[in-house]
Amino acid sequence: MMAPPAFVAASAFTPAASRVGRPTTALPTTARPAVTTPRTLRMVTGVSRNANLAKLQAGYLFPEIGRRRAAYLAAHPDASIISLGVGDTTQPIPPHITKGLTEGASKLGTPEGYSGYGAEQGTPALREKIASVLYGGSIAAEEVFVSDGAKCDISRLQAVFGPTASVAVQDPSYPVYVDTSVMLGQTGEIDAARSQFNGIEYMPCNADNGFFPDLSKVARTDIIFFCSPNNPTGAAATREQLTELVAFAKKNGSIIVFDAAYAPFIRSAAVPKSIFDIPGARECAIEVNSMSKYAGFTGVRLGWVVVPNELAFADGTPVRNDFNRVMSTCFNGASNIAQAGGLACLDPEGQAEIGSLIDYYLGNAAILRDTMTGLGFDVYGGVDAPYIYVKTGGSSWETFSAILEAAQVVTIPGAGFGPGGEGYLRLSAFAPREAVQEAAARLTKMYAAKAVEA
Ligand SMILES: Cc1ncc(COP(=O)(O)O)c(C=O)c1O
Repeated sequence: MMAPPAFVAASAFTPAASRVGRPTTALPTTARPAVTTPRTLRMVTGVSRNANLAKLQAGYLFPEIGRRRAAYLAAHPDASIISLGVGDTTQPIPPHITKGLTEGASKLGTPEGYSGYGAEQGTPALREKIASVLYGGSIAAEEVFVSDGAKCDISRLQAVFGPTASVAVQDPSYPVYVDTSVMLGQTGEIDAARSQFNGIEYMPCNADNGFFPDLSKVARTDIIFFCSPNNPTGAAATREQLTELVAFAKKNGSIIVFDAAYAPFIRSAAVPKSIFDIPGARECAIEVNSMSKYAGFTGVRLGWVVVPNELAFADGTPVRNDFNRVMSTCFNGASNIAQAGGLACLDPEGQAEIGSLIDYYLGNAAILRDTMTGLGFDVYGGVDAPYIYVKTGGSSWETFSAILEAAQVVTIPGAGFGPGGEGYLRLSAFAPREAVQEAAARLTKMYAAKAVEA
């Protein structure tokens, strides 16, 4: 029998044919979403949709916020919107680090400086420098895998763990942990009543438990995603808390994926910047990290993962070997320009510039904290983290909409990070100072008017 064609061209289309090239039914006009639905019958392939992707709910959180902002702007074209929403950096990359980037780019234009593909794990110089400058030599350069950022690394780690791994996440948490888990097939369907995916262990983190999970109530999982300083709660786990987490993982034979993307915001001496500051973590933890928030590299793209040599799967295979295999297959090395910028970040001048950038954002965080505290809210985070987490009560999507309507300020509803975020709002300190001051003034005015109404 002849194999069916992989794709049937429009001209060859016959509606009565096989699964390949079967027509979709045109939706009645009233049911049509504005942009995506075609006006006429269209072709489909014979490929079944990935059932795991079909399990995902709505879109990814941040584009959804963007859509709502755009819809508001379309209805109010004159509105001057201030974004304290998506945690994207806003301040220019400082001069020494920019020089590293431009010199990296210029070298590519010379015969002696040109380089093409590099090692998938990153240049030896950058791996060495990350190990020595950021980890004080407590990890080896060969344990550092340089990448294009923490988000991509989380999905590559999920590819290492595979579809049968069970995972635990803080609730609320950065949505990528849950969504990649669903995509990989590690979960069941969503339980609509709980707004939680079956098969994921959600660890509630809220004001009542100091934003650290009660581990005595957490079931064993293979993988524990843990982010500190946390997005969205702004909580930075103490040494005692991380020691408890490491002991829990070791007792259960679990692997912690420690997301330290906000580590440079830590200024409190009692708060570790790396999970590897905790004895025993080398046998149970991986750390993902990134220059995105350190140095305004959200668009440049540069991150790294530390996989200690000691960390092994149940059959004794070093996790590092499998991660290396996935990196070598699914990734072709970080941009050589970005890596040149990364080296500059780790020079003493670069480190000083990063310190000033972080001071700036922490200054914004203090303004937002003071404003929301002054308005009578319980306010968390914003000290060792760029996120301010405000207990507003009620539906966080409704609070988001009310603030957008009344103050034209974009925030992020806590529920967007998981059901445990309901009743909270995240404000981001990644904004120009004047915008933060203006947002603070607008929020004050809005809540003052509300108080008068009440
Ligand atoms: C907790 C957390 N991890 C990782 C990332 C992504 O970092 P990158 O830009 O390196 O992909 C973010 C971005 O906002 C984040 O909040």
